[in-house]
Amino acid sequence: MSNDILKRVEELTKNGRSEVPSWTPRPAATRFTDISDIEGMRIAGKLAADVLIMLEEFVVPGVTTDQLDIISHNYTVDVQGAIPAPLNYHGFPKSCCTSVNDVICHGIPNDKPLKKGDVVNIDITIIKDGYYGDTSRMFFAGEVAPHVERLCKVTQESLYLAIDMVKPGVRLGDIGAAISAYVHKHHYTVVEEYCGHGVGTTFHGEPQVAHYGTPGTGVILEEGMTLTIEPMVNAGKKQVKHTGPDNWIAKTKDGRLSAQYEHTLLITATGVEILTKRPEETRFF
Ligand code: MF3
Ligand code: CO
Ligand code: CO
Repeated sequence: MSNDILKRVEELTKNGRSEVPSWTPRPAATRFTDISDIEGMRIAGKLAADVLIMLEEFVVPGVTTDQLDIISHNYTVDVQGAIPAPLNYHGFPKSCCTSVNDVICHGIPNDKPLKKGDVVNIDITIIKDGYYGDTSRMFFAGEVAPHVERLCKVTQESLYLAIDMVKPGVRLGDIGAAISAYVHKHHYTVVEEYCGHGVGTTFHGEPQVAHYGTPGTGVILEEGMTLTIEPMVNAGKKQVKHTGPDNWIAKTKDGRLSAQYEHTLLITATGVEILTKRPEETRFF
């Protein structure tokens, strides 16, 4: 089974990465009123989600994160006519982030094959017509230990409970506090060094979306804002250490596992639209 997949991976990656077309950025914004902008964000969000869906079958023991990177890059460029946002972003060398086991975020794809039982976050950001879609999820290489699944489940649930709270008038401190309370209840910790962010016609804009906070404080959500929530949850201590080129790679200081899930959201008049929702996320309608 997995051998057939690895053969397809060889085939799909043998010519390396496709050339990225040049593009013109739109003026940076993370809040929109025009329906054409909102439609642009919907399209970008769907394309980012589609990359994660497309990748699923290729995340098997023996595949390298470099191969996953090339597959995602070429799909984005050749099939979607879009641009992988991480490539060359502040010197980031690859087209997506692949964060394996104790890597919290910003893992750089490399030539090391995944082993059975590894867990990897793949974080995809694409640009379509100047609009950004940003989303990530955990993938398992073969079967993983129950404690690994549990960490991922709690992390994903912390994202979902945050999304459930999103509507105009809610403050970001309320959302951060709810995420960290849920995580702590399960005896895990929240990474504080990295946040969600406004996303729109720019990759990282206002507001910062911390995954911890004080209720009743912080930015008040308003209709038309587009932002990410992307909790990083550690099995052990919350502390981070940085490694790799330009210190891009964030790992847990204690070497224990970390998990992350991310969605791009639009604040609507009455609540929220998940722009990067995947079909298996059936609890949302
Ligand atoms: N996608 C990440 C985020 O959720 C940012 C990655 S920056 C990169 O904000 F340069 F590492 F790609
Ligand atoms: Co993000
Ligand atoms: Co991301």
